[in-house]
Parts: sequence; structure tokens; C-alpha cells
Amino acid sequence: MCGIVGYIGNREATPILLSGLKRLEYRGYDSAGLALLEDLQAAISSNGHSTQLLSAHQLVIEKCKGKVTDLEELSARNPHLSTIGIGHTRWATHGAPSDVNAHPHTDQSGKIAIIHNGIIENYSQIKKHLISRGHIFQTETDTEVLAHLIGEFFEQSHNLTEAVRLSLNEVVGAYGIAVISSENPDEIVVARKGSPLVIGVGNDNDYFVASDAAAIIAHTRQVIYLSDNEMATITRSGIKTRTISNVEITKTIEHIEMELEAIEKGGFDHFMLKEIYEQPRTITDAMRGRVVEEEGNVVLGGLENHLRELRRVNRILITACGTSFHAGLIGKYMIEQYARIPVDIEYASEFRYRNPIVGDDDVMFAISQSGETADTLAALREGKRKGALGLGIVNVVGSTIARESDGGVYIHAGPEIGVASTKAFTSQLTVFALITIMLGRMRHLSVVDGRAMIRELLALPDKVQQTIENTEQQVKQIAEIFKDATNFLYLGRGYNYPAALEGALKLKEISYIHAEGYPAAEMKHGPIALIDENMPVVFVAPHDDVYEKILSNIQEVRARKGHVIAIATEGDEQITELAEQVIFIPETIPMLTPILSVVPLQLLAYYMATARGCNVDQPRNLAKSVTVE
Ligand code: M6R
Repeated sequence: MCGIVGYIGNREATPILLSGLKRLEYRGYDSAGLALLEDLQAAISSNGHSTQLLSAHQLVIEKCKGKVTDLEELSARNPHLSTIGIGHTRWATHGAPSDVNAHPHTDQSGKIAIIHNGIIENYSQIKKHLISRGHIFQTETDTEVLAHLIGEFFEQSHNLTEAVRLSLNEVVGAYGIAVISSENPDEIVVARKGSPLVIGVGNDNDYFVASDAAAIIAHTRQVIYLSDNEMATITRSGIKTRTISNVEITKTIEHIEMELEAIEKGGFDHFMLKEIYEQPRTITDAMRGRVVEEEGNVVLGGLENHLRELRRVNRILITACGTSFHAGLIGKYMIEQYARIPVDIEYASEFRYRNPIVGDDDVMFAISQSGETADTLAALREGKRKGALGLGIVNVVGSTIARESDGGVYIHAGPEIGVASTKAFTSQLTVFALITIMLGRMRHLSVVDGRAMIRELLALPDKVQQTIENTEQQVKQIAEIFKDATNFLYLGRGYNYPAALEGALKLKEISYIHAEGYPAAEMKHGPIALIDENMPVVFVAPHDDVYEKILSNIQEVRARKGHVIAIATEGDEQITELAEQVIFIPETIPMLTPILSVVPLQLLAYYMATARGCNVDQPRNLAKSVTVE
């Protein structure tokens, strides 16, 4: 996830671009940059009789690793006058955060600059082709490849819009882009597919571009939203819109009513809710470019150098904290069921001080959204010190755990701002499913079974979307009923036991209600003593291998007058006779059920917290990244 800003008009571009980038920075970006077309007004043409002052433009790039304030300082040290420019804040995907990998990127001629949100999936093929044609690349980014491709087409037509359009026809992946060229100083070309892009229409022949209206709302509330596969050429005298297959289209200008702060959260009241809503996309991003459906297999770039160890491994260790630990527990169940490799999982804080037994042949996965959690980092170091291959499953690119791992898999969930982790969890589970398929296919999993699992995985984003749409209002009502409860029990079995733990953690964190997660069958060994008419019990009971067993546990709670809220599979009529409240989720294979069942649990925690007036995004005593012991 990155941020895009652009400006063309009669005012100085730099302050407009920098203030727009600052408004996008709440998402925690790692580097930032500007491209400006500086009007030199100094080129002299002489025919021997007269001289003429020509307006010549020079492309200026200013970019650096770090925050927008670092870019601001850089820009103040090297001021450039310009009335057209584009700016970017980056959240690294391809290539670590660094000055050189920061956007904008330029083409081979150095005359075209591009900023890009998204991922170009076929960039390596395009890169090979361009290298064979003599192109030289400065960075590891997919975006630079697109810049060079545009440059290649521009050489043929000297028409920037056409060069961008033809390039996008070659590209597979997601993008929101803005492009400028020193040869076309009166235009910005923008396009989108899968990554938002909005054009702001100002009052004074000036136009703005942004990936999020928050960046331009201070200048105009009149906007045009581009849809997927649409592009626009913006000049000081107007906007021309077309599809990338070159059909001219007319777009309507819309008025934005929302307040700045609301737009910064994408229209959601809280980052947490926004992030719950992002999950269909973040799950897709976790799988993007990684599944080979035909072969029933998975390719994970960050593990490619360790396939030999993974083929031979006899024991896997997983270590993590909090929500990431719950994802790891489910990962253990997946790997043991389908790859038949023994998996030990342990809280990182325990592992690091316990003198654990680790062998040279062990493979260790350290799971962390932030990649900075002190205990997880220390556990990873301890495992590696004792001989294990240390792999990371991390969200934040370039974080310490990512850097210190021998390899690993990024979950690509984008910045998670809500302190209560939501989308990172479902992306971690998606990545564990991919790892499971890969390890399984190295062993006993057939191509047919691999394909079936991949089909179920690919269907998940739509099912998560349905789950959000179908359950949100019902969950809100349930929260109203139970908002004054002081205790909650969350019970599940098999794959959904860790989902129950996660549901309880979410409730505790943001609503401050005491909640316990338990394997459902363990209830009779103690927690059953707590059950009376004041105890709500959430059963995570989708149709899976242990469904019949959990029905008995529900009966036990009902017999003691506990209030039963069940998460069940659509069409399950049996459970409606037992539970007071049934929240239905779509059907999937058992190993993937937690990815669906956790969604209403996240919503329940969210609506319980808001009904109790709690600060959802900044719960007391918690920090997003726990970098101390
Ligand atoms: O960044 P990490 O995944 O390493 O963080 C681990 C825990 O601190 C984190 O999951 C925490 O429990 C969250 N607040 C859960 O919502």
C-alpha cells in the first residue's frame, strides 16, 4: 500500500504535493518522493536573425527513505519551481525501503517519471525482454519495469497517453499510476486497475490526483473517481478519459461531503472496521502470483532458496505472540494434517528463555505482523543460534524479523493501523494454507487434492465479503444485547479452537470485557463452573470433522442456562434449535473455516467496544508494535 498525489495548474506544485503526502502518511510509509517538471525558460533558439526564448522543461526527482518530513527537508534544500508534479509515499513490496527503491521511477531516457500503487505480477518477464533490448535497471522494483516499458512505447509515438495505454495492455497485476514526461510538460496521465485513483477538479484550471481523496480534500471537493481499466489525460485545460482499450468515456464529477478525518479512515469510523472490510482484498493480495492452479501447487519466492531443507524437514517449530500465535496454532493443524510434518508451537516469550531443544534439521517459522515484536525476534535469534533454519511470516517489509530471517513469506496485508489485529490474522492464515499446500505437494498431497484446496482458497475473498455483508447488522444487534456482560466464554474445537482464542483476545483488547477462549471439550474440566444465566458463550461451530462433538458441548451450556451465540455453516438447521443466536458463514473446507469464522468474531468485538463507548483504535495500555519485553 502506498500513497499517490499529483498536481497540474498555475500554482507551485511542491507544497501541494508535500501536504497531500502528509495526509496519507498516517498509514506508516517507508519512503517518499516527488517528480517535478521544472520550467527552465532558458533555451534559446537562434536562426541568425532573431533569438527566441523557448520554454524547456527538466524532469527533477527528489526522493528518500523515511518520512515525508525527510522529503520536505530534502526538497527545501534543493528548491525547484514547477506547476506540475507527482508525489508518492511507499510501502515496499518489491525491493526493500531505500532511497533508490523509492518512487518516482524513471524510464531509460530519464525523461518519463512514474509513481505506482499495486503490484505488477509479470514484471520479471517484461524486465527480461527489456534487458534483451538494452535497458539497464537501477532498482529491484516492479514499478521501474513499467517506467521503462512506457519509455519503450514512447520512443515510437512520442504520445504519452498512448505509450501508457499500450504498456498497460502488456501488464498483469494491479496498479494506480500517475506519469509525467519532460517532453509533454502540460499533462499528467493516470490509470487504475485494482488500486484506487481519484482526480480532483479545482476552481482555477488546476487539477489534482490522489490514491485517497484525503490527500486533496483541502483543495477541492469536486472529484472524478476512475474505475478499473480506466485512464485519464489531465492538462491545464481539461481532462480526457478513456478505457485502456481506447474507448473514450465521460465521467461525472462528484461532490465529496465527508470530513477530512473520515476520509483518512476511508469513510470508516475506525481503522479497525476499515481493516475488517479490507480482508477480501488483503486475502487476495496474500495469494497474488503465488498459486499455480494447474499443478495444484504454490510458489513462494522467499522460500525458493530453501526447498531442499523444506523437503527434508522432520520437525517444524512455530513461534509468535498474540494474534500471530493464534494464526500459528492453526498453521500447525494445517501442516500436520496435510504435510504430515510434526509441528511444535510455542509463545516466543517462553521459547526464548526456556532453553528449548532445537536441532540442525529443524525449520522455524517466526510469525509477526509488525516484524518488530521483541519476544518473537529474540525467539527467532535463539532458534537460529541453535541451528534451525529461521523463516519469517511477516507483514511489514524490511522489518527486523524480515531482515534477520533466512527467508520467508510476506503476507502483503498492507499497513495495519488498528491496534487490534484483524486483516493480518486472515492473511497469516492464507499464507499458512499456501505453505501447507507447498509442503504437502512435496510429500503425499496429490495434484488433484492440491487443486481442490487452491480452488477453495481462491473462493475465499468472495466468501469473506459475503460474511461481512450478511453478518454485520446481526452482530451489531447481538452486541447491543450483551454489551453489559462482564464475562464471555469462546469455545471451539479443531481448527476453530484457535479461532475461539482469537475471538476472546479481540473482545478483551478493545472492550475490556473479560473473555476466555477454550477448546470446547475442556469446558467440562473447569470453566463449566462459571456458566449460569449471566454467561454468554460463543461457540465457533462450522460444519467440520468435529461438528457433532461441539453440539454436545452446546447442550451442556444450555442445560446450565448459559446464553449461546453460535457461528455456524449456512444451511445448518440443527444448530438453530440449540443456540439463541446463530451467525451463519459460507461453507468451505475445514482448514479454511477460521478465515471465515473469525470475521463475525472481529465484528462482535468491534461492536461490543463501540456500544460500550471504548476507543477502538487506541485501546488502553496497548501498543501496535511491542518492541519491549
Ligand atoms: O506484530 P506482531 O504480530 O508480532 O504482534 C504480536 C502481538 O503483539 C499482536 O498480535 C497483539 O496481540 C495484537 N494487539 C492482537 O490484536
